[in-house]
Amino acid sequence: MRIRVNHIAQLLNTRKASKLLRGKELAELPLIPNAWLTIEDGIITGYGGVEDPFPEGADWTLVDAGGATVLPAWCDSHTHLVFAASREEEFVDKINGLSYAAIAAKGGGILQSARRLATMSEEALYAAAWNRLQSLMRLGTGAIEIKSGYGLDTENELKMLRVIRRLKATAPIPVKASFLGAHTYPAAYKDDHESYIRLIIQEMLPAIAREGLADYIDVFCEEGFFSVDETERICKAGIQFGLKPKIHANQLHASGGVELGVKLGAVSVDHLESMNANAIQALSGSDTIGTLLPTAAFFLRMPFQPARELIQANAAIALASDFNPGSSPSGNMNFVVSLSCIQMKMQPAEAINAATLNGAYAMELGNELGSITAGKRANLIFTTPIPSVNYLPYAFGTNLIDRVMINGAFI
Ligand code: NIG
Ligand code: FE
Repeated sequence: MRIRVNHIAQLLNTRKASKLLRGKELAELPLIPNAWLTIEDGIITGYGGVEDPFPEGADWTLVDAGGATVLPAWCDSHTHLVFAASREEEFVDKINGLSYAAIAAKGGGILQSARRLATMSEEALYAAAWNRLQSLMRLGTGAIEIKSGYGLDTENELKMLRVIRRLKATAPIPVKASFLGAHTYPAAYKDDHESYIRLIIQEMLPAIAREGLADYIDVFCEEGFFSVDETERICKAGIQFGLKPKIHANQLHASGGVELGVKLGAVSVDHLESMNANAIQALSGSDTIGTLLPTAAFFLRMPFQPARELIQANAAIALASDFNPGSSPSGNMNFVVSLSCIQMKMQPAEAINAATLNGAYAMELGNELGSITAGKRANLIFTTPIPSVNYLPYAFGTNLIDRVMINGAFI
């Protein structure tokens, strides 16, 4: 199928070739006013403005964008989309003054999600995750990473990863899988970390590798969870099985997780609420992407990530939702982008780049998604008419998405 889209008020993030953006580059958001776009078999094949010759021919299917702003779909590189149940009771605990760490220490949090997940079938988990994914696609998400980590034993970690594998096979958008067996210590291993790490390395990882169930290895590197040394051992074991690290670092404390991730050549280090000079320095000029999860900071009332310092330090940063029942019960990337501008003082152009192109790179999909580039997938957001790009994050909480196109077809 050959599609010509016309009447695009602004076409955002148009790039001949694309690369990971760092430092000042993040503020450059190329755009074409009064644009057209061509798509063939779900792939972008051309675009231009009033000056550029519009491809003629009778066999094009015409799509009228109706004055929409068109931009690449969001690339959400960090989610925990597969879970059994919401945890709004903890939300109230937090309102009453308990911290995330205190809730976890009394057996709530991740362990609570694990108890619920253990009782749920693969089929039911898949159905729930599928529905969440459909909602996120309608909110403009066009590629997603999903973690395990609510299984915490071999059977249930594999169950989660098989659900993600099924989503990969059935969803029209790219899905990446991260193995997060090291999300927390199950109660039985609270005082025997060694045995749980052995279980991850000697039993879970080989089983996952046999079935090719994961793309990445993730660890929650945090005080009271996995230490820097434990994280290093688990990541190195994952690397042996062909999984690149993508780790939870510096959420509650400046633990050294960021520096470790950079040392291991992680694809990304994610969270970064608690940064110090060393951690920022480590990301300076590094190919490891710093993925900021501002809705987790927002929901847990933590300080926001130091986006400006990271950009100033020439780090490559991405934005993601962290969708999960404990610290970010929303996967709405539109809100992530708004919040980043409002609370981290990112420029709208920086936030859009970080949530599209750099997000794609944080899933190693930079050649496939994240910009309007010939050869990339036509996963696109069509907005309602808006006065300018800046209006997008400014009008937070307002749904400005008119239509979402995935692989060249409106959903
Ligand atoms: O990214 N920080 C650790 N893991 C998740 C939260 C998981 C949960 O509370 O269920 C996060 O915030
Ligand atoms: Fe997370």
